[in-house]
Amino acid sequence: MPGKPFIIVAIDGGAASGKSSTASALSRRFNLLHADTGSYYRAVTSEMLKRGADPGDLASVKAALADLRLGTRIDGRLAQIEIAGRRPGAEIRSREVNEAVSHFAAIPELRSALLSYQRGQAAAARSGGFAGLVMEGRDIGSVIFPAADFRFFLHADPAERERRRVREGQQDRVAERDRLDSTRKTAPLSVPDGAVSIDTTRLTIAEVADRMASVIARSLEGA
Ligand code: C5P
Repeated sequence: MPGKPFIIVAIDGGAASGKSSTASALSRRFNLLHADTGSYYRAVTSEMLKRGADPGDLASVKAALADLRLGTRIDGRLAQIEIAGRRPGAEIRSREVNEAVSHFAAIPELRSALLSYQRGQAAAARSGGFAGLVMEGRDIGSVIFPAADFRFFLHADPAERERRRVREGQQDRVAERDRLDSTRKTAPLSVPDGAVSIDTTRLTIAEVADRMASVIARSLEGA
């Protein structure tokens, strides 16, 4: 009997569209390693700020990127990034990082420093004994894993997304980050070809996760 297939699930969408909660629900349901690439961009941004890099000064960004030692620690089902052996803390959700992250994320050199790291999470999932990988971000179905088995795109009304961040106790201008993320030249936020698009504005996390899970389960049953 053939073994179960190893699956890659890509979830893209704007800020506070529901990606992390639904990725976490799918990781539990299908035993997938969960990679939150927004937290990777946040961790690298926090490191850039610590090293005095300025997104408007490419030389300073390149110098700070030169000796970034990226590693992964698997914590339950979550793949956490480590920089120089250290796991970043709550500072990655600070106002400073919220304001700077999209500016750093628009820099092609910084994106390419994270590209092979992100693709390498599939190998981490296999060697960790997971049934697959669920990766969330802005360019997962378009650039990182364009051949992902499942591609989802989540969107929601901007006012509702701002409210979600406020409920989480965060200061975050989601519309401004979306504007920067959608208009950058390299790997802009966009709906990947063939993605299942879901409006999460009036749905609970469980309802969104159920819709996604039924798409995956139907396909796996037919496999
Ligand atoms: O998902 P989250 O809102 O935490 O992402 C923070 C920021 O990281 C995004 O606004 C975007 O600028 C950047 N990002 C990206 N590509 C990804 C994931 C996040 O550019 N795949």
